[in-house]
Amino acid sequence: MPNSRPEPVSACRSHIEGALALSREAGWPHTRDDWSFFLALSRGLALLDGDEVVATTLVTPFGPVVAVNMVLVARARRGTGLGRHILEKAMTLADPDEWRLVATPEGAPLYEKLGFRDAGRIVQHQGIVRPPATPRRDGKPDDARPVAAGLADLEDFAAADRKAGSHDRKDLLAACLRKGRALKLVRGSALSGFVITRPFGLGEVAGPLVARDLASARSLLAAVLDTSAGRFLRVDTDAGSGLGDMLEEHGLNPVGGGTRMVLSRHPLVTSRDFSTFALAAQAFG
Ligand SMILES: CC(C)(COP(=O)(O)OP(=O)(O)OC[C@H]1O[C@@H](n2cnc3c(N)ncnc32)[C@H](O)[C@@H]1OP(=O)(O)O)[C@@H](O)C(=O)NCCC(=O)NCCS
Repeated sequence: MPNSRPEPVSACRSHIEGALALSREAGWPHTRDDWSFFLALSRGLALLDGDEVVATTLVTPFGPVVAVNMVLVARARRGTGLGRHILEKAMTLADPDEWRLVATPEGAPLYEKLGFRDAGRIVQHQGIVRPPATPRRDGKPDDARPVAAGLADLEDFAAADRKAGSHDRKDLLAACLRKGRALKLVRGSALSGFVITRPFGLGEVAGPLVARDLASARSLLAAVLDTSAGRFLRVDTDAGSGLGDMLEEHGLNPVGGGTRMVLSRHPLVTSRDFSTFALAAQAFG
């Protein structure tokens, strides 16, 4: 493709194998299943050279917010404008109030050029879950305990998630609930938080974790860690989430992360009732 720049085509299942090769080349842990999961919730573009997928970008609609993800260019083709080309095309597929993404250091300069601004640091924790060296002392004995949850809780989870992120991620939450296992924390009759753990990459990811306050988030995370001993777990958090110490105590060390970036077109309605303590994926926020 030296002198021409073909138009991207709609990304579909037939591109997954080629897309997987790109994400592996970039050192990302995504599996075929992860690509299918992302593609089923998104619209996207693939840039082809013959049969070879040489670039991808997905956009995932969450009501007034759209997430940009899986922005990848084959290593040998980088620095020739393909990344900008496919991203600009992908951003014509939607017209949200706000674009969001989590940028790698390689991606950040491109997003900055398109008007995205830095909205904070994401820390990726991962490892094999082990019991803490000293017993945890979270909560009082009479505190509410997380209990198993499922699709019957979807409406409540979606409402809390909307308050936490000003987005509508009901479809994503339904897909996560079908694929994984969920816990909720209820105080009185009100939801205090929830977390969904599902297969992803090298093992499992715990997220989204959405809660009213840090105590509720820690209680939910503690329950996930207790049931995940010996398994590979990944948790992506905001740098100031207040969960980092607990994750590290259980062997989930920081291994990198990214930069939250946003491109706002119109102000979003915000609420402080809930916060997002752990991401569903860097792709989805
Ligand atoms: C990020 C990535 C998609 C960029 O693709 P690319 O085809 O190399 O990007 P382009 O050639 O279109 O360059 C994009 C722009 O960023 C600029 N840019 C790139 N690196 C830069 C840097 N370090 N400093 C300043 N500007 C930089 C380029 O000059 C270009 O600007 P221009 O369009 O005004 O000339 C590619 O490097 C990649 O696949 N990386 C691995 C996966 C990854 O990290 N993806 C991002 C996920 S958030």
